[in-house]
Amino acid sequence: MSFEYRRSSLYAMLMLAALLPARAAAPQPQANPDGTALTLSATGTIDGANPFFKPMGNGRSCATCHQQADGWTLSPRSLQARFAASQGADPVFQLVDGANSPLAATATLDQKRVAYSMLLTKGVIRIGMPVPPGAEFTLVRADDPYGYASAQELSLFRRPLPSTNLAFAASVMWDGRETQTDPASTRCIADSRPALCFATLDANLLRQASDAVRGHAQAAQALSAADQRAIVDFERSLFTAQLSSAAAGSLSDAGALGGPARLAVQPFYFGINDVQAGDYRTLAPFNRNAMTLFGAWRNLAAPPVPGRGAPAPAPPSAQSQARASVARGEAIFNSRPFNIAQVAGFSDQLRLPLQRGTCTSCHDAPNAGAHSVARLFNTGVADGATRTPDMPLYTLKNIATGEVITTSDPGAALVSGKWRDVGKFKTPNLRALAARAPYFHDGSARDLQGVVRFYDRRFRMGLTQQESADLVAFLKVL
Ligand code: HEC
Ligand code: HEC
Repeated sequence: MSFEYRRSSLYAMLMLAALLPARAAAPQPQANPDGTALTLSATGTIDGANPFFKPMGNGRSCATCHQQADGWTLSPRSLQARFAASQGADPVFQLVDGANSPLAATATLDQKRVAYSMLLTKGVIRIGMPVPPGAEFTLVRADDPYGYASAQELSLFRRPLPSTNLAFAASVMWDGRETQTDPASTRCIADSRPALCFATLDANLLRQASDAVRGHAQAAQALSAADQRAIVDFERSLFTAQLSSAAAGSLSDAGALGGPARLAVQPFYFGINDVQAGDYRTLAPFNRNAMTLFGAWRNLAAPPVPGRGAPAPAPPSAQSQARASVARGEAIFNSRPFNIAQVAGFSDQLRLPLQRGTCTSCHDAPNAGAHSVARLFNTGVADGATRTPDMPLYTLKNIATGEVITTSDPGAALVSGKWRDVGKFKTPNLRALAARAPYFHDGSARDLQGVVRFYDRRFRMGLTQQESADLVAFLKVL
């Protein structure tokens, strides 16, 4: 074989590879601080030629903010790398909603670093929304550290929700604003008077995709119907979960049921295992043991008690101990009771014995952890009392009663205009958490320890150090 021949055939191969870009990549595990996560697609491959990845309008694609390696959202670490590599020119860094204020100065690199500080530190996008006409409240004060927000446009700093595991979503967007009602639908909240019924997930996602192109990507032209369909089919086909854990090893080993392959066949429908009315289809009562992935690991770290005179058994390995901790964490998540008091959307609307519940009272969708109907809750994440100086603080006044509250994000109230909806957000899916720190709508919990600390204080759970560590160990392997 001549050198010339080899070179030309190599060239031909390279040309072919260039013509056929890495379009249909086989799913690859992606590293995260606690191990690896894997995304599987129901179609078998992640199609890099899908319009989800196509730049539109201002050069952004959906993938600009929904990155596979970050659990299909954004992580501050990778944003900082993108900022450094592009000198702040990556399309994610744009004034419209990437900056702390759309009027921020961005002439120099230092100015850019300041202008995009919220994105770079917390991975949050600025959603601009007005107080809706006819709202039951007025905005009496906007304390915006970036000098922009007003009643015409409040600045709301929110994490991109993962564009994966959407098969388990009963509401779309943190404030549910893309969850359309539909009186003709059968997806209705049980016993709601008047009947509260919702459009299909597909209808909601189709509208969401075209709104995202108009908003985030500032496209002058609407998304074509074919691209809209292709994007929604793409995102609906994805399932992401932690695949392996640095501490506990393979998450489908020794009887455990973690990982994305199981998740892809996990049943879900509107009202599965509803906390209030029970399961809408099987009519079974609510089962608080909604998470049943790691029960097989429960007894791994309990060595048999040695008989008198018998040699002491070998202590369980570090991996067995980590696995047992995960299993204990799952049991706490399912069954550790606490009082769910003063949670708008929950304690005022659901009738539960003694208002006692568990993590699964809200995270009720089996082995997914979303809420299985379109109900939003105010768990207090946006309360004015816990506002940090980098966040805006809004003072709202109830027109009828004169009552005043402060919040960093009125949540669903900016959609409905209703006072009782202030601070309500959707209960997100909990799979592949390790890939997507920081947590909560505003990225206020830097890590999963921060999430558990928040709940321990908010609901006075009284967790011991070991129990907190077990709960964190469980959340990390979802
Ligand atoms: C500039 C960043 C950005 C871009 C670009 C972007 N998104 Fe998002 N996405 C977000 C943010 C932020 C949220 C959450 C906003 C909220 O809830 O208020 C979100 C939410 C979503 C959700 C809701 C998921 C859920 O569980 O409710 C879906 C689906 C989604 N995006 C898909 C898309 C698609 C499809 C595109 C491209 C057409 C896109 N996004 C482009 C930032 C972005
Ligand atoms: C009253 C309902 C309710 C209860 C009880 C509840 N959650 Fe949540 N959970 C939510 C809501 C709503 C959010 C979104 C809050 C926000 O971002 O403002 C959330 C968010 C989370 C997140 C962050 C997910 C993300 O993508 O950022 C984690 C993790 C979590 N909850 C774990 C738990 C654990 C662990 C418990 C039990 C100790 C628990 N939850 C109890 C309703 C609840």
